[in-house]
Amino acid sequence: MASLPAPLSRALPNLLAQAETQKVGVESMKVAFVGLGVMGYPMARHLVGKGGHEVAVFNRTAEKSETWARENKGRKAATPREAAMGAEVVFMCVGNDDDVRSVVYGEDGILADLAPGAVLVDHTTASATLARELDEAARAKGCGFLDAPVSGGQAGAENGVLTVMVGGDEATFETVRPVLDSYSRMVGLMGPAGSGQLAKMMNQICIAGLVEGLSEALHFGQKAGLDLAKVVEVISKGAAGSWQMENRHKTMAEGRYDFGFAVEWMRKDLGICLDEARRNGATLPVTALVDQFYAEVETMGGRRWDTSSLLARLTR
Ligand SMILES: NC(=O)c1ccc[n+]([C@@H]2O[C@H](COP(=O)([O-])OP(=O)(O)OC[C@H]3O[C@@H](n4cnc5c(N)ncnc54)[C@H](OP(=O)(O)O)[C@@H]3O)[C@@H](O)[C@H]2O)c1
Repeated sequence: MASLPAPLSRALPNLLAQAETQKVGVESMKVAFVGLGVMGYPMARHLVGKGGHEVAVFNRTAEKSETWARENKGRKAATPREAAMGAEVVFMCVGNDDDVRSVVYGEDGILADLAPGAVLVDHTTASATLARELDEAARAKGCGFLDAPVSGGQAGAENGVLTVMVGGDEATFETVRPVLDSYSRMVGLMGPAGSGQLAKMMNQICIAGLVEGLSEALHFGQKAGLDLAKVVEVISKGAAGSWQMENRHKTMAEGRYDFGFAVEWMRKDLGICLDEARRNGATLPVTALVDQFYAEVETMGGRRWDTSSLLARLTR
C-alpha cells in the first residue's frame, strides 16, 4: 500500500479522533453515573470510551465502583452526592422506585449538592409517578430532569445499542441527547416527565403477551411432534415473526433460561404497568394473567431465570 505524505500521516490520528467525536457529535462533559449493575456498568463505560466524557461513579457495593474506576480511568465516589458534585449530567440506573429515592434524596443524595443547570437522568425502569416527583424536585433546585428507561437488555448495554424512551421538556432533552448516543441506537422524546416510563410500560405489555404466545406455540409444536427449528425458520419470516422468536426459540426449546432479563425484574415492571392501568382506566387482562404465570415460574425456582421461561410452566 502506498505510504501517506508525511503531513497527512502526522495529522491522521487527530483526524480519526475528531471523526470519532463527531460520530457521537458531542463535546466532552463532566458526568456522573450512579448504579453499576448489569446495565449501568457498561453504559458508564461507553460514556468514557465512545462519548469521551469525564465520568465519576457511585455504586452501593464499593468493590464494583473501584473495579470500574480502575478499568475506565474514571473517578469513584463514596456517596451519590460526591459523584454528582460538579457534574453537568447525572445518570442513575438502580432497581426500583425506592432504590431511586434512596440515591436521590437525603444528606448523601444526588440532589444535595447538584449544581443549578445540571440535569438528572433516570434510566431505572420505575413508575411515572416517581418521574413526575423527581421532575418537581429537580426544578426546585434549578435543575432539569429526564426519565429515560431503556430496552435492549444486557447485550444492548454491552454493545452500546440500547433503545431509550425519554420523558421531559424538549430543551433538556436536546442538551442530553448527544450524551445518550454514547450507548444507544434509538433515542426518542415521548412527551413530558413520566412519558418515558409510560412508553416503557407499553414495551413491557407487548413483551408479556408476545412471550406467552411464543411459549404456547412452541409447546404446541412439541406436542404435535413438529421439527421446531424447521417451522420457526419459515414462520419467523411471516406475520408471526418477532425478536423473541428469532433470538429465543432455540434456547426455549432446549429449556435454557439464562439470557438476561430476570423474571423478578419483569414482575416489578408488570406491577408498575398494572398500577398505572388502575389509575388511567386501561384494561390489561393478558398482562395480568401473564404476571400470574410469572409468579408460578418464581415458585418453580425461576426468580432469576429470564423472561422466556414462561414455557417452563407449560412443559413441567
Ligand atoms: N437487566 C436488563 O436486561 C434490563 C433491561 C432493561 C431495563 N432494566 C432495568 O434497569 C434497572 C437496572 O437493572 P440491572 O439489570 O442493571 O440491575 P442490577 O444488575 O441488579 O443492578 C442494580 C444496581 O442498582 C444498585 N442498587 C440497587 N438498590 C440500591 C439502593 N437501594 N441504593 C443504592 N444502589 C442500589 C445496585 O447496587 P449493588 O451493586 O450494591 O447491588 C446495582 O448497581 C432496573 O430498573 C431494570 O428493571 C434492566
